[in-house]
Amino acid sequence: MEGIRKKNAISKSKLIFMVLLTVLLLIQLARPEKNTTATPAGKAFVDTFKVGEQVNAILAVSCYDCHSNNTNYPWYSEIQPMAWLMEKHILDGKEKLNFDDLPPYGSRRLNSKFTQITKQIEQDKMPLNSYLWLHEGARLRMEDKKLLIDYFNSLADNE
Ligand code: HEC
Repeated sequence: MEGIRKKNAISKSKLIFMVLLTVLLLIQLARPEKNTTATPAGKAFVDTFKVGEQVNAILAVSCYDCHSNNTNYPWYSEIQPMAWLMEKHILDGKEKLNFDDLPPYGSRRLNSKFTQITKQIEQDKMPLNSYLWLHEGARLRMEDKKLLIDYFNSLADNE
């Protein structure tokens, strides 16, 4: 009796392991659509708002992955469940702010976006912490924050 029970216990944990492994393998088949739409030449945020090279470089490293139509996908984005987590961040991020959508906005809407941006930066809310774990280089330094805040404040003044 004892022997049989022990045997059952082992095969149960083996079974759970096999099921988990199968699920892990099966979810690899899911391929979320990639966020890579070419922006027409001259229509990007960087062209319309005469973004300086320095500011654009900071935005490219720290913000565009989740707030533009073009995400720079790392190798692990091919692995589930990372691909899903990333897709969720990109969809949620773009819903709140998509730099590529800004050019045709009216001045009131633009101003409200610029104010939101400076607020998020001042409060150290962006880039998201979970993103910084894997993208240490995207963390904004003091001087980056100052450059971005000055730039978006100057845009808000002009609108
Ligand atoms: C890893 C993805 C990611 C990165 C990188 C990122 N964001 Fe976000 N951002 C989000 C998500 C998701 C939301 C919506 C949910 C939230 O507010 O937490 C958001 C929301 C926002 C909002 C709207 C906040 C509000 O008032 O509702 C602003 C503004 C913003 N981000 C600016 C930035 C700026 C500026 C950068 C670069 C310095 C940046 N984000 C980098 C994912 C990201």
